Amino acid sequence: MINGSAIYPGSFDPPTNGHLDLIQRGSKIFEELVVAILRNSEKSPMFSVAERLEMLRELTADLKNVRLDTFDGLMVEYAKSIDATCVLRGIRAISDYEYELQMALMNRKLEPTLETVFMMPADKYSYVSSRLVREVAQAGGPVKGLVPELVEHKLREKLDPAYKLHDARLNDAPRRRGKKRRA
Ligand code: PNS
Repeated sequence: MINGSAIYPGSFDPPTNGHLDLIQRGSKIFEELVVAILRNSEKSPMFSVAERLEMLRELTADLKNVRLDTFDGLMVEYAKSIDATCVLRGIRAISDYEYELQMALMNRKLEPTLETVFMMPADKYSYVSSRLVREVAQAGGPVKGLVPELVEHKLREKLDPAYKLHDARLNDAPRRRGKKRRA
């Protein structure tokens, strides 16, 4: 167990099983893990910061050394303000590495005392990202197993028309396939 606080910053729009996996792993390593949601990361997020905070609160309720917060501006400045000594980031595949390395080195330039620690989520989540989850859900597709059940329900609530349209299309598909072409 590493003494002190680490920060796990991100957009979490929405939180995925990959995020949760990393939070669980991080909470075993650091004395305290602060999951910090960036405010204003995107102009039109799918979930408000309050909604994301609420979802993460429920998802991490059993992890006693995990704290939730939000931040604005430079991550390193926020990290310093809460005396965090490490930044935790997940690397799913080698394709993540370039961007993460760039960000870690920029953060080091800005604040040399803050160390970035990379961890890998379980390989079954290696292709899961919030962006793809949003894309699939917006088209009414299934996201079971990619996000916690709670998030799945919230996505269904939010995207009810998309799911209805998707289901209607599926119900209609056999009829369309079965239709004989006119000669
Ligand atoms: O989940 P994400 O969107 O990959 O998280 C990216 C995040 C929030 C960690 C990153 O964009 C960030 O730290 N933004 C805060 C602004 C900042 O410090 N920028 C300089 C990073 S090198």
